[in-house]
Amino acid sequence: MNETPTTVTNILMVCLGNICRSPLAEGILRSKLDATHFNVDSVGTGDWHVGNPPDPRSVKVGLSHGVDISGLRGRQLSESDFNDFDHIYVMDQNNLEDVLAKATTDEQRRKVVMILDVVFHGEKVDVPDPYHGSAEDFERVYEMLDTACDQIAKELA
Ligand code: 4NP
Repeated sequence: MNETPTTVTNILMVCLGNICRSPLAEGILRSKLDATHFNVDSVGTGDWHVGNPPDPRSVKVGLSHGVDISGLRGRQLSESDFNDFDHIYVMDQNNLEDVLAKATTDEQRRKVVMILDVVFHGEKVDVPDPYHGSAEDFERVYEMLDTACDQIAKELA
């Protein structure tokens, strides 16, 4: 059959633990994109939470906005991710340094962007780590990621 192959754009969200911010970013962006054309995943730079579900506070704030991330499981950034993904969004400047330190080519480095740069161009604004914070901090993280993912979805559409 002469079917046109479907082009899939692969997007990776990265934070430190892959249990608070990046699983939320994954769920939020996935909710805004057509699954036929976009694959969204998330990883941590650290390995403490590999195989673990997201932090219950991230699950809760996601559900309160209609985004269910309870089925996600932690994974650590691997070398192959730099080739498997087209866009790599990191949450803060520490993530940026850690990810860039693992990239081996300019093409790989060009894929890596701080997620709030899509809103505050070049201002290097962090999505703050809410791990030691309150429910309000998780809500603030949700709002920041929702704003950034709206912009990303608009740019990729
Ligand atoms: P995340 O938050 O990077 O947004 O997933 C963290 C979760 C766990 C830890 C650090 C940050 N930890 O040190 O275990």
